[in-house]
Amino acid sequence: MDAKPGIYKVKDLSLAKAGKLRIEWAESRMPVLTALREKYRKSKPFKGFKIAGCLHVTKETAVLVKTFVEAGAEVSWSGCNPLSTQDDVAAALASDGIPIFAWHGMNVEEFYWCIEETLKFKPNLTLDDGADLIFTVHKKHPELIPNVIGGTEETTTGVQRLRAMAKDGALKYPVIAVNDAETKWDFDNVYGTGQSTLDGILRSTSVLMAGKNVVVAGFGHCGRGVSLRAKGLGANVIVTEIKATAALKATLEGFRVMTMDEAAKIGDIFITATGVKDVIVERHFKLMRDGAIICNTGHYDCEINIGDLNKVKKSVREVRADNEEYRMKDGRRIYLLAKGRLVNLAAAEGHPSEVMDMSFANQFMSQLRLVQSRKNGSRMENKVYDISTEQDQEIAGVKLRTMGYKIDSLTKEQLKYIDDYSAGT
Ligand SMILES: NC(=O)c1ccc[n+]([C@@H]2O[C@H](COP(=O)([O-])OP(=O)(O)OC[C@H]3O[C@@H](n4cnc5c(N)ncnc54)[C@H](O)[C@@H]3O)[C@@H](O)[C@H]2O)c1
Repeated sequence: MDAKPGIYKVKDLSLAKAGKLRIEWAESRMPVLTALREKYRKSKPFKGFKIAGCLHVTKETAVLVKTFVEAGAEVSWSGCNPLSTQDDVAAALASDGIPIFAWHGMNVEEFYWCIEETLKFKPNLTLDDGADLIFTVHKKHPELIPNVIGGTEETTTGVQRLRAMAKDGALKYPVIAVNDAETKWDFDNVYGTGQSTLDGILRSTSVLMAGKNVVVAGFGHCGRGVSLRAKGLGANVIVTEIKATAALKATLEGFRVMTMDEAAKIGDIFITATGVKDVIVERHFKLMRDGAIICNTGHYDCEINIGDLNKVKKSVREVRADNEEYRMKDGRRIYLLAKGRLVNLAAAEGHPSEVMDMSFANQFMSQLRLVQSRKNGSRMENKVYDISTEQDQEIAGVKLRTMGYKIDSLTKEQLKYIDDYSAGT
């Protein structure tokens, strides 16, 4: 481990060169974020502001971090999952003098130690993916709260919990729900998670997807993306749900819908994407076929109950990177990928840069909104704010232009027609 107390702790600084190349690659695929970097490079709107971030340390995150730094911010960063840090990227950031505390394979204690380190410089802004940083500030460091202007949250599970906190009056500063932006939730979660989850499964198993019964738990944004991509590779997709409308959408997409109790008997590959605990539990492990593969792409590692899996196993051994074989007492084998943590980040590289471009443009603009609210004296309440439609349209518009597409715009007459309640057939 390489460390400089209070400044960085990463696995191996000598990986920096490889990390820089990876970041450069991501940058070349993130035109919206790099346009924002150009726009604010000179005016440096974040000058004098400190951002503590807790978000997967990937090449795309590094592009975001560097964009904040170029726009004048001081930044201190940790990863938001013990298995998602790309060590070469962390090394590259450390070698550029950016405070970073993250390495792949840390334990839970180390995970929280890293968050604590990022709080030592007393941030004015927090940036979360899963809300662990905000929770740490609220529970362990309330003394920092008067100094914090606000925060942003990247993922569904984090936003849900922060909304619950706000409802109970427990949220002590404003938070912007980046996840819920159309240019985030409908793209990153669907196409990003869809592709990278399959990528993680393929890297850790190298199995043929065609003809497999792939069981996807949850047909929300992520589950839909995963289902579509698995179908594209020739799998027979089965969806399990708890929400009638989501299940109905899955059937109309051509997927079979059943309970997990039924699906457990016939699935070859199981992917949880719900954000809810105990989706696959002991009774399901008892029903599964020999050779079944199980993995999770929801935020926390509680969707597959690994305690239950350990209860019913006879032995366990690692058979490939990110792939553990659990042998049951009756001889059946179940393969758990990435220890039940986000398979796309632990076993692959997370979402492709092109889709993170929009998510992180939203992060940048939302943090900027918080700073501007402080500068112009407008008081934001201690609640969860949505991203504006204008921001969504602006980001989507820039993205389209960089992809070389043009779209039409409404004429004056069309605009008038839309609002004309006197017009009929
Ligand atoms: N892997 C990644 O990189 C990545 C990216 C984005 C989001 N996420 C995480 O993925 C999870 C899902 O996010 P989303 O945006 O798809 O949320 P969503 O709210 O759009 O969808 C979740 C779906 O799961 C269903 N569900 C809930 N409990 C269930 C259960 N017990 N069985 C079956 N279905 C159930 C819900 O009805 C809903 O339709 C969250 O934890 C989110 O934070 C992961």
